[in-house]
Amino acid sequence: MAVRPIVIFGDPVLREVSEKVEKFDTELKNLVSDLVDTLKEAKGLGLAAIQIGVTKRVFIVDLSAVDINEKLRVFINPEIIETTEELEYEEGCLSFPGIYQKITRPGKVKVKAFDTDGNEFVMDATDLAARAILHEYDHLEGKLFIDLMSTLTKTMLKGRLKKLRTAS
Ligand code: NI
Repeated sequence: MAVRPIVIFGDPVLREVSEKVEKFDTELKNLVSDLVDTLKEAKGLGLAAIQIGVTKRVFIVDLSAVDINEKLRVFINPEIIETTEELEYEEGCLSFPGIYQKITRPGKVKVKAFDTDGNEFVMDATDLAARAILHEYDHLEGKLFIDLMSTLTKTMLKGRLKKLRTAS
């Protein structure tokens, strides 16, 4: 459909809690299609609807660039059922261009969600897939990866975050 502008840190919409999808209609399919186009253009691993300014509980994760066995996955109205393990790994976010930091997150997740046709599925993910799912899920709750950084890291990034905030 279309590549949409990505909302950058500083825009208050990123702190909003997204609303549940009620209708699995053409509008939803168009939204997912825009997310796919936008993520591909940005060469990212995941994108939530709120990052293109749409406060709906929808995100996509595409690890095919880093894992040949992976494909693009769509998560609508996702619920995190279980998380285990804690792993530290470098993480970025398309709403924070140029910022990459080590973040501790669960290394395993069980997630329940719906696809664009309204079919429910349950998925177990590990490592990078688990990380990507949990990162995108946080966006639906208005949470950002800087919330998981230590005070020291945030102090270090203060100048760069301020620059993003004032540019947006
Ligand atoms: Ni993000």
